[in-house]
Amino acid sequence: MKTIIEPFRIKSVEPIKMTTKEERLKYIQEANYNLFALRAENVLIDLLTDSGTSSMSAQQWAAMMNGDESYAGSTSYYRFEQAVRNLMPFKYVIPTHQGRAAEKILFSIALKKGDYVPNNTHFDTTRANIEAQGAIAVDLVIPEGKQPELEHPFKGNMDIAKLDAFIQEKGATNIPLCMITITNNSGGGQPVSLQNIKDTKAVCDKHSIPLFIDACRFAENAYFIKTREDAYKDMSIIDIVREIFTHADGCTMSAKKDGLANMGGWLALNQPQWEEQCRNLLILTEGFPTYGGLAGRDLEAIATGLEEVVREDYLQYRIASTQYIGERLTRAGIPIMRPVGGHAVYLDARGFLPHIPPEDYPGQALAVALYIHGGIRGCEIGTVMFGKQPDGSEIMAPMDLVRLAIPRRVYTQSHMDYLLEVIMEVFENKDAIQGMEITWQPDALRHFTAKFDYKQTQSRAA
Ligand code: F0G
Repeated sequence: MKTIIEPFRIKSVEPIKMTTKEERLKYIQEANYNLFALRAENVLIDLLTDSGTSSMSAQQWAAMMNGDESYAGSTSYYRFEQAVRNLMPFKYVIPTHQGRAAEKILFSIALKKGDYVPNNTHFDTTRANIEAQGAIAVDLVIPEGKQPELEHPFKGNMDIAKLDAFIQEKGATNIPLCMITITNNSGGGQPVSLQNIKDTKAVCDKHSIPLFIDACRFAENAYFIKTREDAYKDMSIIDIVREIFTHADGCTMSAKKDGLANMGGWLALNQPQWEEQCRNLLILTEGFPTYGGLAGRDLEAIATGLEEVVREDYLQYRIASTQYIGERLTRAGIPIMRPVGGHAVYLDARGFLPHIPPEDYPGQALAVALYIHGGIRGCEIGTVMFGKQPDGSEIMAPMDLVRLAIPRRVYTQSHMDYLLEVIMEVFENKDAIQGMEITWQPDALRHFTAKFDYKQTQSRAA
């Protein structure tokens, strides 16, 4: 059988409010053409993020009823800790309300002004939390990882030679930790090979620098290792996951991705001196160490989610559904970032809309057109997100992309076929899409709240 089916049945449904193109035109105008300002109920298929948007299983909901809400020593904490350590064998596991809280705690105690933290590519919150300590976040992904059209099985890999040279140049005493993000979200959800994780660890060991994994999409990364790295093709996903984490000294995690939960995260580590300081800071900012900003029921949902996310039938379906979208789009000649990553498909808006120059935000124009035409909500990742500089000037981002992130276990094959149809129809009429301008923006993180209009000020439907 060639067809890979969703390995679940649907017992509880969440209705989608159907809207017309005319209604969507009105909603997006009211939102000043910013998709973050839309009411979610006015979106048909929401691909803004895969974070916190997973469907939970019947087993997760059942486990939540067993949530122990004790302030200290909750049974749910011990179940959570065991579930994490079953996959990631670190000494200490500190729950947090989400991934960025784990980052904030780790960097607050480990970094000082002027330190460096290398990574394949830092996610925005990771970079921002490092910079908030006055330290410098450095991206050292392999050169292939920056070329959208190039095929490579592990485009998230760290550039090992560059990492070694960087450490020698800056000095190991100025690099309190090194990170590697699996999968590399900012680089298109691209995986990192197990060999590359081992090689990164060897360089870190040579210089006595601890290696932390940004583990958000660890299960998807493990599936790519199993299917693309010959040495691991006969190993189970669980064993691959355990092997990954034996090559690290700690990890930060957002349970909103491969925890299959709607909220949560953790920091795990082996160093006792850091652990003590981290727990003290946790009590100050998140909560007592056996709940860390989460309810007991959240800890239960994560513990069960971690058992489900490493199942091979789930991962096969998960990766097949993003590959399916990518293959259909490529066949239709629609420019996307290749190969397709684990959690999202990235449309190349500059290739899609060659008549719109980067200064007229082709990514925003395309994201708005997909919403108006079919009620799809994606996210611009390009000049709107990265173009504004701290001094107020504007530079063009290296790429203008629209990320279509696929929530886990939420949409069916026919939703994806509808998505493909919308993208293809927008592509057929792409010449009618106009560039955009920003009519208002805040000082920082403008993509969340900026207001837009079409460049010639009169609006036009896609
Ligand atoms: N690291 C990576 C690689 C991420 O993708 C994210 C979140 C975080 C850390 C932070 O975790 O949201 O729980 O605080 N990524 C989301 C996204 C927001 O849409 O890609 P968080």
